[in-house]
Amino acid sequence: MGRLTGKVAIVTGGASGIGAATVRAMAHEGARVVLTDVQDALGEVVARETGSTFRHQDVASEAGWIELVDAVVKQHGRLDILVNNAGIFRGASIEDTDLDLWRAVLDVNLTGVMLGCKHAIRAMKDNPGGACGSIVNVSSITGFVGLANGAAYTASKGGVRLLTKSVAVHCARAYGKVRCNSVHPGAIDTPMNQAAFDASPDPAAIRAMFAGLQPIGRMTLPEEVAQAIVFLASDDASSVNGTELLVDGGWLAAPNPL
Ligand SMILES: NC(=O)c1ccc[n+]([C@@H]2O[C@H](COP(=O)([O-])OP(=O)(O)OC[C@H]3O[C@@H](n4cnc5c(N)ncnc54)[C@H](O)[C@@H]3O)[C@@H](O)[C@H]2O)c1
Repeated sequence: MGRLTGKVAIVTGGASGIGAATVRAMAHEGARVVLTDVQDALGEVVARETGSTFRHQDVASEAGWIELVDAVVKQHGRLDILVNNAGIFRGASIEDTDLDLWRAVLDVNLTGVMLGCKHAIRAMKDNPGGACGSIVNVSSITGFVGLANGAAYTASKGGVRLLTKSVAVHCARAYGKVRCNSVHPGAIDTPMNQAAFDASPDPAAIRAMFAGLQPIGRMTLPEEVAQAIVFLASDDASSVNGTELLVDGGWLAAPNPL
């Protein structure tokens, strides 16, 4: 029996990177997974490979969240896990941040997470057998420290870190067994970073520099982040609530991290 057998999970941004690795890990542990993304073709591939269901979703749309959660409860009868993983990065310092960029990043990375928490709780509190569930919000090391070339991104991830604690305290007091935690990846080897490397004059040099920022001397694999997410989603973490789990190879344990 897997660690998530009998559980129903939604993973946003499940077509790529950390999200796709999380879908694979959760399916392996016995969960019935619904993955969502704006990249339909990639999402369908992950769904086919893992025996999961893909649904198109823009996490910034509240109507989309209502439709998604209602459809999952209709199909599976319950919702046990939500992984708010979908995210975008736009490199810009505060001086280069215009309102369009700010709103685009905050809409996906913070408003999307807020909407996910709100509508998942609506389902989790009515689960057959009693209220229960685990929400895992994917923040970043930039939920702790500022990235000069990512003002909006840093603000969004800091917001996710503390929103998680508000949700955690509310759910614990109101529903007992509904939990919410955040995961904070460091330098992860995903398409999000590869796109940034490819845009630089020397992608190999930037990649090596990035790997060197983590004391473990390499980038972290998306599968390693997925295992941390599975732990928080599972009953093994039944008393872990409102916490922040760094998966950064020790990056933030070092002086002058960024
Ligand atoms: N890669 C890293 O080093 C790193 C570090 C810290 C935090 N993170 C966070 O981890 C999460 C996953 O990132 P990743 O590296 O796997 O990136 P990725 O680009 O490989 O995957 C992100 C996925 O989110 C999807 N997405 C984007 N906008 C969406 C929207 N509006 N609605 C639904 N889906 C949408 C994308 O299509 C993509 O499939 C993000 O929240 C990111 O900020 C990543």
